[in-house]
Amino acid sequence: MIGRIWNFIKRHKKKVIVTGLAVWGGTYLFRYVRRKFREFQEIESAECLAQARRQHHFDSNQRTCNITVLSMLPKLREVVICLLNTEECTEQLKSIPSNKLQIWEELKILSFTRCVAIVYGCTMMCLLLRIQLNIIGGYMFLDNAAGRNGVSKELAPPEVQEKYLSLIRVFFSEGLAELIPVVKDAVVKETGSISLKEKLSVSNITAIVSQIRERIENGKESTLRELPTLPLGKYMLNVNKTSVQDDIESDIYTRLLYETRDVLESNDFHTVFKLCLDHGFGKLLDFIADHFKEVQKTETSIISLHETSIPVAKLIPFISRLIYKLGSDAPNPLVQEILVLEQTKTFAANIYEAFSHSEDPEDLQLVP
Ligand SMILES: *[C@@H]1O[C@H](CO)[C@@H](O)[C@H](O)[C@H]1NC(C)=O
Ligand SMILES: *[C@@H]1O[C@H](CO)[C@@H](O)[C@H](O)[C@H]1NC(C)=O
Ligand SMILES: *[C@@H]1O[C@H](CO)[C@@H](O)[C@H](O)[C@H]1NC(C)=O
Repeated sequence: MIGRIWNFIKRHKKKVIVTGLAVWGGTYLFRYVRRKFREFQEIESAECLAQARRQHHFDSNQRTCNITVLSMLPKLREVVICLLNTEECTEQLKSIPSNKLQIWEELKILSFTRCVAIVYGCTMMCLLLRIQLNIIGGYMFLDNAAGRNGVSKELAPPEVQEKYLSLIRVFFSEGLAELIPVVKDAVVKETGSISLKEKLSVSNITAIVSQIRERIENGKESTLRELPTLPLGKYMLNVNKTSVQDDIESDIYTRLLYETRDVLESNDFHTVFKLCLDHGFGKLLDFIADHFKEVQKTETSIISLHETSIPVAKLIPFISRLIYKLGSDAPNPLVQEILVLEQTKTFAANIYEAFSHSEDPEDLQLVP
């Protein structure tokens, strides 16, 4: 093959050289035009360029967000498993204790709580990080632009960024710790009376999950019907609990906190949040339906999936292990559902857009 090409070149030396020159010339011309076009662009449409830069910055920010979310999954799983330790119950059962039935009951509650909690936890974590990184990203974009223009006052200095982003750790240590008892309480109310021997079908479980959700999301107040997820915002960020010192840095930090809280209280956020939860719980029920399909195949008589039912006691080990599927490392089924949603992307883009624009120089003033 190489030999054939070499012969060809030898035979058509002149033509090859001319073609080479033309290609080189073409490239040169192309570069020249591109440079001229850039100059033209810079003169004619600085705004267009700023938009392109903003877009580029936004895209790389979303990738950062993806990576951050995935890197936090092991921590999320660890916290939920630690707070809802079914493994401990299983160990105790091995020693055939006298309060065996009581431990089984506890195992039932913990197992259901675990897989409901991981859906809430994962959705909240994804959305909180999305919001934080887009607020910070918007400010960083403005800081970069200001730097290019020789303005040195920063809207989000690195120390503040770090402190602000570490709020996700507060979500893990405090938010989840407060949320999980609420989930557990709802699970107890909905599954407490179901005996271990009772047989459940997929539609039974679907109904149970939706009742658990209703208890958690609607709370006690009927005024929350329109924004059912509103009571959950406080587990993601509670500004009352974050201590604030008195210096310029903490002014910037406080401003970030309040802005984040405002986003978390907005209707737009709750629309996206509810949608993400619907998709997340949809995934949970998909896994359960798959399990029932497996069981259906092993039945001796032919029955529909609808009729397939499994005794609670037999279902518990599967429900308990679901956390390893729902909270798995990448590719994580929940993250996959949440991050590809068009509404999540639009929501992120809107936050970034809002925080990367400085219409009025007054807007850039820090809180007094
Ligand atoms: C983030 O991850 C989602 C799901 O994996 C993917 O659809 C999306 O394109 C990713 N975004 C970026 C900017 O990498
Ligand atoms: C499961 O569904 C069947 C049929 O709809 C119903 O009769 C039964 O009470 C349900 N069981 C539970 C525990 O909800
Ligand atoms: C924060 O404190 C205010 C006033 O004390 C109170 O009304 C509000 O409910 C608190 N918010 C949270 C999330 O605890």
